[in-house]
Amino acid sequence: MRKARIAVLVSGGGTNLQALIRAEKRGALSHGKLSLVIANREGAYALERAKKASIPTAVVLKKECGSSEAFEERIKALLRENKIDLIVLAGFMAILSADFTREYPERIINVHPSLIPSFCGKGYYGLHVHEAALAYGVKVTGATVHYVNEIPDGGRILKQKAVAVREDDTPESLQKRVMRLCEWKILPEAVEEAAAGLVHTNAEEKDR
Ligand code: GAR
Repeated sequence: MRKARIAVLVSGGGTNLQALIRAEKRGALSHGKLSLVIANREGAYALERAKKASIPTAVVLKKECGSSEAFEERIKALLRENKIDLIVLAGFMAILSADFTREYPERIINVHPSLIPSFCGKGYYGLHVHEAALAYGVKVTGATVHYVNEIPDGGRILKQKAVAVREDDTPESLQKRVMRLCEWKILPEAVEEAAAGLVHTNAEEKDR
């Protein structure tokens, strides 16, 4: 069976990438192959995780590319060269342009650390999301995995998982719990389902 070739775009620690690597190792990503990791920051620890798992890596820096357009063109070239079918944004701290997202309809998946439509969109990323949830005083939060379209955090939702907020939570403790109980579970599940969908669609098209 042909597997969907997956590229993971990262900026930081890469714990969500690690969850995908673990899923692939235990056979829970049976329709996909982690084929490329692209970082937009030098020294992102996610790159070490990829290297340890023998996944090819690339670093694309906006400042070296000179413009947002050139940055995206470089990423697109890497995706083409590596015959990527599915793109996963796993802690990728850059917003992709509408032109970029339109080229990959329902081919880009993002994990966001809140229950969309709460605490999402421009400015809501990483720890800021949990700071905002605590400041608002919500009693439940969680994570969302969704397809990416031209609206930041606005694409079709694939999976969500909730956790209770505790009285003594800090943004850091909440972030850790949301990652451990929500993100690291629903991201691999959603990626496997999307990959299976792509593989089956391709197989059906070939049979026609
Ligand atoms: C994760 O919590 C992810 O949901 C969030 O950044 C963190 C990256 O952690 N992403 C966003 O906020 C995107 N809007 P990781 O590098 O350890 O996977």
